[in-house]
Amino acid sequence: MTKKIAVIAGASGLIGRRIADQLMTDGGWNVIGLARRGQTRSGMQWLAVDLADRVDVDAKLSGLQATHIFYAARYDHPVEGKTEDVETNTRMLKNLVAVIEAGGALEHVHALHGSKWYGHQLGPVKLPLEEDKSARSPNDNYYFEQDAFLRAHSAGKAWGYSSSRPHAFCDPAVDLPRSIGLVIAVYAAVQRELGLPLDFPGNATGYQAHTQFTDLGVLARAIVWMATEPRCRNQAFNVVNGDNPRWCEIWRQYAGWFGMQEGTPRTIKLADYMADKGPVWDAVVKKHSLKAPPLDKVALWAYGDYQFRPDWDVFSSMQKARTLGFNEHLDSFTMFSRQFENYRREKIIP
Ligand SMILES: NC(=O)c1ccc[n+]([C@@H]2O[C@H](COP(=O)([O-])OP(=O)(O)OC[C@H]3O[C@@H](n4cnc5c(N)ncnc54)[C@H](OP(=O)(O)O)[C@@H]3O)[C@@H](O)[C@H]2O)c1
Repeated sequence: MTKKIAVIAGASGLIGRRIADQLMTDGGWNVIGLARRGQTRSGMQWLAVDLADRVDVDAKLSGLQATHIFYAARYDHPVEGKTEDVETNTRMLKNLVAVIEAGGALEHVHALHGSKWYGHQLGPVKLPLEEDKSARSPNDNYYFEQDAFLRAHSAGKAWGYSSSRPHAFCDPAVDLPRSIGLVIAVYAAVQRELGLPLDFPGNATGYQAHTQFTDLGVLARAIVWMATEPRCRNQAFNVVNGDNPRWCEIWRQYAGWFGMQEGTPRTIKLADYMADKGPVWDAVVKKHSLKAPPLDKVALWAYGDYQFRPDWDVFSSMQKARTLGFNEHLDSFTMFSRQFENYRREKIIP
């Protein structure tokens, strides 16, 4: 059987690396990872390329006869929750599609988008979030430009596209600090060292709000499904675990896992709260012989603040994917437990 050839843009990022894992596990794919900083990883090829630079893209990727693009790159975004660079993110996708399309073998482009499509981060929105019924966010987002480009540019061509709209990424990785699991686990270790309960870093209304998460193993399998299932062509799909816990419910389970007393909601900004806790964390690391980075590197506290700030419900419908045959469902606390266990194995938390 002829192997399909996948290029993964952003293959060193949170989801890019899980798409690579999934394709290599499935077999039948030659996998090529793209990012500005090249890496070495067995089972796949790496090309260091700046997708924002058309000259570099042509120099490094011309002649590549890839069948599938998995587009999971995201240009640097220094401020959490703020509008990302629409022009650069759109140009990066256009540059890649242009060079791969010229190779003549392109079948499908998958673009990684997210639930910010619906503007849930700005304030309460009508729920559930539904791909083809819910209103689009009123603010700028490169998702819209990329989607419009893929729709227009694929019209009448042999290739099609799909896109995914996950919510907060959850993954056992310990080296990428924009991680809600790392934020919670390290915050818990600091609170415990201080002899404090596991207070919720948000307000009382937010503590009662329903939230949701996306496990990156589930997301990677959903993405490969979308890219290879003909009925998904030119469609967008929400991808979340499928449960919709209240923060207070899952927070109680976290406290149990860490052997701590559940605290109360406290409207603090973790970025400020953690600013003087470096010595506390250093003491935890020393006491338990951990191999963890310093407190300002191990987890992105501003990202935690972005996740804990909303005091309204969010819920994405999985009905569209389920109707077409993607039926994975994951209990979010089970997912977090696996992450925490991995952090412990990797000696990041006690
Ligand atoms: N993180 C979340 O919770 C979340 C939730 C929902 C949706 N999403 C969406 O998922 C997508 C991927 O997010 P992520 O969190 O996985 O991203 P990420 O971890 O920040 O990774 C970004 C990737 O893009 C690469 N990249 C950045 N600029 C590049 C350039 N100019 N040329 C080539 N490669 C470049 C990076 O590598 P180099 O820096 O080495 O170039 C890295 O591999 C985004 O569209 C995001 O909006 C994320």
